[in-house]
Amino acid sequence: MDLKVEFETHFGMAHTRWATHGIPNAVNSHPQRSDKGNEFVVIHNGIITNYKDLRKFLESKGYEFESETDTETIAKLIKYVFDNRETEDITFSTLVERVIQQLEGAFALVFKSIRYPGEAVATRRGSPLLIGVRSKYKLSTEQVPILYRTRTIENVKNICKTRMKRLDSSTCLHAVGDKAVEFFFASDASAIIEHTNRVIFLEDDDIAAVADGKLSIHRIQRSASDDPSRAIQTLQMELQQIMKGNFSAFMQKEIFEQPESVFNTMRGRVNFESNTVLLGGLKDHLKEIRRCRRLIVIGCGTSYHAAVATRQVLEELTELPVMVELASDFLDRNTPVFRDDVCFFISQSGETADTLLALRYCKDRRALTVGVTNTVGSSISRETDCGVHINAGPEIGVASTKVEGTACSPSGRAWAGGPEARVPGYPPSSGVDAAGSRSVHGLELIKEVLSLDEQIHDLALELYTQRSLLVMGRGYNYATCLEGALKIKEITYMHSEGILAGELKHGPLALIDKQMPVIMVIMKDPCFAKCQNALQQVTARQGRPIVLCSQDDTESSKFAYRAISLPRTVDCLQGVLSVIPLQLLSFHLAVLRGYDVDFPRNLAKSVTVE
Ligand code: M6R
Repeated sequence: MDLKVEFETHFGMAHTRWATHGIPNAVNSHPQRSDKGNEFVVIHNGIITNYKDLRKFLESKGYEFESETDTETIAKLIKYVFDNRETEDITFSTLVERVIQQLEGAFALVFKSIRYPGEAVATRRGSPLLIGVRSKYKLSTEQVPILYRTRTIENVKNICKTRMKRLDSSTCLHAVGDKAVEFFFASDASAIIEHTNRVIFLEDDDIAAVADGKLSIHRIQRSASDDPSRAIQTLQMELQQIMKGNFSAFMQKEIFEQPESVFNTMRGRVNFESNTVLLGGLKDHLKEIRRCRRLIVIGCGTSYHAAVATRQVLEELTELPVMVELASDFLDRNTPVFRDDVCFFISQSGETADTLLALRYCKDRRALTVGVTNTVGSSISRETDCGVHINAGPEIGVASTKVEGTACSPSGRAWAGGPEARVPGYPPSSGVDAAGSRSVHGLELIKEVLSLDEQIHDLALELYTQRSLLVMGRGYNYATCLEGALKIKEITYMHSEGILAGELKHGPLALIDKQMPVIMVIMKDPCFAKCQNALQQVTARQGRPIVLCSQDDTESSKFAYRAISLPRTVDCLQGVLSVIPLQLLSFHLAVLRGYDVDFPRNLAKSVTVE
């Protein structure tokens, strides 16, 4: 969802809605309004969890609702606060302050009102919100100071007056000499990057007001740890990075960007002479990380799969107990967390509500928190004690591809080993020789796998009318299977399951017959013999396995209905290569089935609601 407001003498408001309440129709879409005269209007990203109580209260006061949304309560509530104001000169931002004190849940909001012409107010809690700034002229400041107030209702009149006085040039952001400046409020930088790369990230409960072309930022109270200003930051993102170029979909472009994204994440971190990785973002916390008793890696969806992909190497390198957790389940269980735990949070967007809540939960328990995100300035990157920026570049397709691949790359995985990890599996251990030595320079190998695209397309032509697809593997490739199955269900709407091959005889074997397509990921790693076993069990039940195997594997291909041969690298990095055919397959299946690959139904890129 993107919120966008454009200022100077013009104002625009737009919203792409991911429904939490009510079907997608005109009356449920945003802006939501306070009344038929549109006295107050609001757009919202997030979810209001106490909306039923608020709605009941407002209905009891005579406010009539027209939509099924939670957001409408916000529009009605601000009108209620306005209708019951103690003083005529109450400011727009004071109204918003009072409204958000009543809200529970997550929100990024932009308000507009005919009562306050030339003004707009925005605020956030739990959902991301940033302000883009564009002007040809010099700006009054690069650091917008926060204006604080104490909230005693008795003092409202004085406070309102004081605030009016305080909003002079030194406390606002504007263009010098009253020249033109534009402000853009958005949930995500990609929504505004074509206009500006200069942004201010708002913190929870910040209230940003634009009046007469000047931006001020307010908070109700000051706490000791507060930063007293918000800086304008310059994003490195380029417009071209969020354009499709010659590709038919962002997802396809992003799959093919993996050689560059893996290279970018290694840049300045991997030392090819000493075969070590240095992660600058972790080095100040090296002592604490080394002292810890347990590692917990937390994420959702594809980011969780990146965590699963990393678990084994993390265990091997640190010899510590490692828990890999789905954020929602971790919270549901009130999982015990201790001060000597180190908790990693993997997130492409850095804004996923479940992951963010898990982060806050761990912080409350004083664990050291480490963010592994792809979004500079995101909530997770700001709220963790330290972190690693994945640096894969913007990812637009809802289905995450290049970020997962990159998070699992040599430097991506090295966060597992601490700030100065050796590249896992390098120098090559027995049996990996030349392939191993190519692992750190694995870009060629990624390109080689991408060149199988046509072969994968042919496979998709055979499979696209199927209702179900199983993806099976074990060891390092279990994560590949989970991720492949998620990609397939997410964009093709086929049923798909990632199955641990070791679990085959404990249930899934019952699904195997000659109708059921089964993709098996079998690599020449320590699980090879066990995977052969699974392959035999599948063929014995007349299954027709499609095998993703190593180029030098003549055995598996003998039993395969179809075989796709992949170049070999060190075991812990093999998933970076073996997931690509599954990404390509899901893409081709979705296109053949006639679906919009980049915008799968019912899903959003940043899941900022619980
Ligand atoms: O931004 P995050 O990595 O925290 O997002 C987590 C999941 O919502 C996300 O990976 C989702 O599963 C993807 N759409 C999968 O392709």
